[in-house]
Amino acid sequence: MSSTVVDPAVDAQPATPASTDVARRYVMCPPTFFAVRYRINPWMEPDEPVDVDRAVRQWRRLRDQLVSQGHAVDVMTPDPDLPDLVFTANGGIVVGDRALVPRFRHAERQDESAVYARALRDLGIEHVEQARCTNEGEGDFLLTGNRFLAGTGQRSDPDAPAEVADFFGIDVVPLTLVDPRFYHLDTALARLRPDLVAYWPGAFDAPSLGVLRDLFPDAIEATEDDAAELALNMVSDGATVIMAPGRPELCAAIADRGLHVVEIATDELRKSGGGAKCCVLEHHRR
Ligand code: ARG
Repeated sequence: MSSTVVDPAVDAQPATPASTDVARRYVMCPPTFFAVRYRINPWMEPDEPVDVDRAVRQWRRLRDQLVSQGHAVDVMTPDPDLPDLVFTANGGIVVGDRALVPRFRHAERQDESAVYARALRDLGIEHVEQARCTNEGEGDFLLTGNRFLAGTGQRSDPDAPAEVADFFGIDVVPLTLVDPRFYHLDTALARLRPDLVAYWPGAFDAPSLGVLRDLFPDAIEATEDDAAELALNMVSDGATVIMAPGRPELCAAIADRGLHVVEIATDELRKSGGGAKCCVLEHHRR
């Protein structure tokens, strides 16, 4: 099995990953001010302590791993008043010179939108607009091949897919999420390659499952236990997949499809309901 484990106890250099033909560009924001101050998903327990230094170490391993795979990582400045800013997947949807900035469902995160808009403009993206509909960015909109898979029913509004299709001129396949633990699409489904996803079926309603089974007959079906560890919240560049440790069967299923797996612990960030994918916003090429 082709996989690499990065021991969370040691600041080990990641092993040389499989190469991908396309270097990616990602936006990340360090969890310098990581905290769980409010509860907007079932993972968040404001009374439980968080270890900020540990969150920062986990985040750095993730960033270093992406850089070691040959990708560019643009790092945003954190904000002491916005503890969830580390989850840049919610910072927008970015394709070519266009970015749609989020409109958050919960008041607790709404001030993040202006910060993401500024950061994306500073990166030189020409057309930056805020979504009209409630839209939580790449957390719910995963560009997979030549279409977006879109999660609605929890955070992003049922009208958000049409707005995204119109803004980017790219097809959007809406999927309805039905379990509050899996409140963003990227908590229930991992995009591994343009033709390959992994998901936990129980997070979707029956019509959405029918759509997923038609589109991806060879998909990897994860278990509820995989999903409940947030293990589906993975970052894949099409050759290397970064995922949480401790899910050997899921890891083996991915490796069997010819992908290289690197395990990086993100359990400190999970206290806010996030994993590796949540910490990464991809700037897709046109
Ligand atoms: N605490 C954040 C929230 O509930 C976590 C966001 C995780 N992001 C993601 N793309 N799933 O909004």
